[in-house]
Amino acid sequence: MKHFLSIESETAEHLVALLESSVQFKANRGKASESLLDGQTWALLFSKPSTRTRVSFEVGIRELGGAVIFLSRGDIQLGRGEPIIDTARVLGRMVQGAVIRTFAQSDIEQFAEYSQIPTINALTDYEHPCQIMADLLTILEKRGSLDDLKVCFIGDGKNNVAYSWIWAAERLGFELRIAAPDSYRPADSILEKMTNSRIFVTDDPLAGADQADVLYTDVWVSMGFEEESARRLAELDAFQINEPLVARAAPKALVLHCLPAYRGREISAETLEKHAATIFDQAENRLHVQKAILSDVRK
Ligand code: CP
Ligand code: NVA
Repeated sequence: MKHFLSIESETAEHLVALLESSVQFKANRGKASESLLDGQTWALLFSKPSTRTRVSFEVGIRELGGAVIFLSRGDIQLGRGEPIIDTARVLGRMVQGAVIRTFAQSDIEQFAEYSQIPTINALTDYEHPCQIMADLLTILEKRGSLDDLKVCFIGDGKNNVAYSWIWAAERLGFELRIAAPDSYRPADSILEKMTNSRIFVTDDPLAGADQADVLYTDVWVSMGFEEESARRLAELDAFQINEPLVARAAPKALVLHCLPAYRGREISAETLEKHAATIFDQAENRLHVQKAILSDVRK
C-alpha cells in the first residue's frame, strides 16, 4: 500500500520521479483522456480550512476520472469524538483513497494504517508535503534545474511548510537557509537528524537572503495558532519579504509564497504583486503535482 504522508518518508529518487510525472501531467492536461481513477471514490477529510488544497484535489481527482466526497470534521462523527482509527476503518471499506488535512501527524499515520487505503497528507502541523512538491516544480520550471540551488525560508521556521522544506533539502541536497527569530527556530530534534551540511539557521534575514536563488515565506500565524496572533506578529515583524530583502538576493531571484498571503505582514504588497505571476503559477502547480501523487499511490 502506497501513501504520501511526508517528505521525510520519501526517497530522493521517488521525489524526482514524482516531479517528472508532474511535468507530464501539466503538459498533457486536457489533451489525453485520463482515467487512472476510473470507478474510484476518494474522500477529502479536512479539519482545517482550505482554498488551494481542496480545489486542486477535487479538480485533480475528477480530471483523473474519480469521484470526490468532501468531509469537514464538523460534518462527521470525528468532530463529536469518534476516534480516527474507527473513522479510518469505516472509510477504508467504502472509498478507494483519502486526502487528509488535520493537526497531528500521528492522526494521518494512524488513518493510513487502519484504513488500508492510499492516504495523502494535505497538511498537518508537522508537514505540508504536497505544497513543497508544487514549490519544487515551480523552481524547476523557472530555473531549469534544482542544481546549485540556494533557498531562503523566512519567518516561522518551526511550522509545517518550513519542516517540509528542511526535509526536501535533506533528501535532495540543496542549500537551505532558515531565517527566523530564535524562538521560531526549527526544533533541535529535527535539525539533529540532518546530514546535509548546507542547512543553516540564522536570526538575520539579510544574511539568510544573501545571494539566495529563492526567497520563500508563509503566514506568521499557522492554522491552530490563532491565539498566539498578537505575539507572533510582533516577534516576526522584522522577517518580512520586501524590496530591500529582495535586493540582497541573487539577481532574478524567485519570490515564492505558499498562500494565503497577508500583505504587510510576511510579505509587502509591492513584492507580492511584483512576483504574482510566479506565485500564482506556484498555486496552480498544486494541481499538477497532486495528480502525479494520486496516480502514484492509487490502488
Ligand atoms: N497553500 C495552501 O495549502 O493553501 P490552502 O490552505 O488554501 O489549501
Ligand atoms: N503554515 C500554514 C500553511 C497554510 C497553507 C498553516 O499551517 O496555516
